[in-house]
Amino acid sequence: MAQVRVARRLPEPAVRLLERAGHDVQVLADERPPDRAALLAGVAGADAIVTLLSDRVDGELLDAAGPGLRIVANYAVGLDNVDLEACRARGVRVAHTPGVLTEETADMTWALALAVARRVVEGHRLAASGRWTGWAPMQLLGTSLHGRTFGVVGLGRIGRAAARRARGFGMRVAYAGRSRNEEAERETDARPLAFEELLAEADVLSLHCPSTPSTRHLIDADALARMKPGAILVNTARGDVVDEQALVDALAEERLGGAGLDVFEREPRIHPRLAAFSNVVLAPHLGSATVRARSEMARMVAEAVVEVLEGREVAHLAA
Ligand code: DGY
Repeated sequence: MAQVRVARRLPEPAVRLLERAGHDVQVLADERPPDRAALLAGVAGADAIVTLLSDRVDGELLDAAGPGLRIVANYAVGLDNVDLEACRARGVRVAHTPGVLTEETADMTWALALAVARRVVEGHRLAASGRWTGWAPMQLLGTSLHGRTFGVVGLGRIGRAAARRARGFGMRVAYAGRSRNEEAERETDARPLAFEELLAEADVLSLHCPSTPSTRHLIDADALARMKPGAILVNTARGDVVDEQALVDALAEERLGGAGLDVFEREPRIHPRLAAFSNVVLAPHLGSATVRARSEMARMVAEAVVEVLEGREVAHLAA
């Protein structure tokens, strides 16, 4: 019977699939992440660990598990919390959850883009306040998006799904990325641009790149200064792609039309000034938060663990 440790309570069918395969499963924490000491102690002797984006998977954690560890299955598509080199060096496989949260994250991108452009949260506050005095020609006027440019940074799975939606909203699509994605270009009529050109052209700039050392603070003060005046920034990727202080400064100087943010540089902390801007809409990292996506993610991590422990091939291995 293999020892499987799950860092935090997950939706089913995660534990059910693992137990049905005959493994001894221990869940280390409930709602909040286990603290580091509890995580290190909890994984001792594990053959497999299911981690979340809030758990740092590094050499220390792998060594705390010990030499029997065969797989880390990360309950996220992002792998920025996982030291892939440290896993490779110890022969530990790494699985994650690409594909099953693509459409949901693209939906969240658009929920934020539209909420900022059409001032939905301000409108909700007014309507719910009891102080609304009725329809008025100048009330809460927003930004029209059709006919304008949706700029995608990173035309991978999620960027492409967001771009597809942009076409439905009558927007032109342009993108910048590490490499060309000609299939996605054909599907969404996306124009490849240099990053600086994209900054200058996009009316909505939507981030869909992974967090890596080279994308950290990709949207810094300089990039923000190059953005089209009045443009909307949407981030459903990773918080550290944006320099949050520089974003606050750009918003304070009223150079941007607004920002829709689902991810933050130091989650769960959020720069206190962000919440004060009326043209900023914040969400607490909800990109994949639907019942369907979260249970598909649970199925994927459990199946990856079972397959690796049974010596079978796994489709979505990152290491
Ligand atoms: C991911 O999967 O990387 C998301 O940020 C959380 O679902």
